[in-house]
Amino acid sequence: MSPLSITRTLPADATAAALRTDVTQGLSRTPKQLPPKWFYDARGSELFEDITKLPDYYPTRAEREILLTRADHIAAATQARTLVELGSGSSDKTRHLIGALGSLHTYVPIDVSESALAAAGEALLADHPGLTVHALVADFQQGIELPATPGPRLLAFLGGTLGNLLPDERAAFLRSVHDMLSPGDALLLGTDLVKDEATLVAAYDDPQRVTAAFNKNVLEVINRELGGDFDPADFDHVAVWDARREWIEMRLRARKDLTVKIPGVDLAVTFAAGEELRTEVSAKFRQEGVRKELAAAGLELNSWWTDSADRFALSLAFRV
Ligand code: SAH
Ligand code: TRP
Repeated sequence: MSPLSITRTLPADATAAALRTDVTQGLSRTPKQLPPKWFYDARGSELFEDITKLPDYYPTRAEREILLTRADHIAAATQARTLVELGSGSSDKTRHLIGALGSLHTYVPIDVSESALAAAGEALLADHPGLTVHALVADFQQGIELPATPGPRLLAFLGGTLGNLLPDERAAFLRSVHDMLSPGDALLLGTDLVKDEATLVAAYDDPQRVTAAFNKNVLEVINRELGGDFDPADFDHVAVWDARREWIEMRLRARKDLTVKIPGVDLAVTFAAGEELRTEVSAKFRQEGVRKELAAAGLELNSWWTDSADRFALSLAFRV
C-alpha cells in the first residue's frame, strides 16, 4: 500500500440518500432542524478552518495549548502504534501528537469531508514520510470498520465535536468508540467547557461574519445537491446560549415569509418571517459530566487537563 490511501466506506449514493432523508425529515418537522455534518463540503471545511483562526474562537487555540504541553505524557501513557482520529478535518493540531508518538506506525484520519482528508494526508506525509496514512471517508455516527493495524490504539476526537451531538447521540457514539477499542486502548477527547455567556456567544457569532457564512453554507449544499432555491441572504445567522441545557444553538432565522423549492426531495418548504431552522448545537461540558458519560460507555477517565485559562479540556480515558 502507498503511504497515503483514502478509502470511501460509503458509496457516494448512500451519502446522497442520507442527505435527502435528513432534509425531508428535518425541514418537515416543527421546529425545523438539520444535522450538522452537512456543513462540511469542501467550502464548509475551508470556512471552518477560517473560524479556527478568528480572535473570538478560542477553542482551537486552547486545545492546541493543552496538546503541546501534554503530548509527551500522552505518548508515554498510551505507547500508541495506531492513532485513529474521528472528524479529523485539517489534522492540524494532531501534528503535535503525531510528532510526540515515537512508536506510531499508522494514522487513520476519518471524516465526511474527502477534500479535508486529502489535504491533511498530503501535508502530514510531507513531514512524516515514514508514516502510513490510511484515511477513511466515513460517517462516525454509522458503524465504522477500522483497518487492521498494530495496537495499542489511541482514538482522538478533538475540537469539541462531541458537543455537536445531542445527548442520546453522544451516548451511542461513545459506546461505538468503546467497541472500536481493545482493553488498554485509549480515547483522547477534547471538550469545550461551560463559561460565561458573552465569551461563548462571541465564539459563535463573530463580527467578521465567518461563522454566519459557515452556517449558511448548509443552504448552499442543499441548493447544489438537491436543486434547492434557498437565497442565503433571506436568513440571519443566530447563536444563542441555552443555559438549562448548557449548549450553544446555531440557527438560521427567516427574514420574511418565504417558500423554498427543493426539487431533489420534491418539497416546497414555507418559512414564516422570524421562523428559525436549528443547524447545530455545541454543548459545553464540566468534568463530572464528562466522567459520567465516559463511564456509562465503559471508558475510564484517567487524566483531565485544561488550558491555562480553563476554557477547554482534554481528557485521556482508557477502555477497561
Ligand atoms: N478535528 C478538527 C475539526 C473539527 S470540525 C479540529 O479540531 O479542528 C468537525 C469535523 O468533523 C469536520 O472536519 C467535519 O467534516 C467532521 N464531521 C462532522 N460530522 C461528521 C460525521 N458524522 N462523520 C465524520 N466526520 C464528521
Ligand atoms: N466543533 C465546533 C464547535 O462546536 C464546530 C463549530 C464551530 C461550529 N463553529 C461553528 C458549528 C459554527 C456550527 C457553526 O465549536
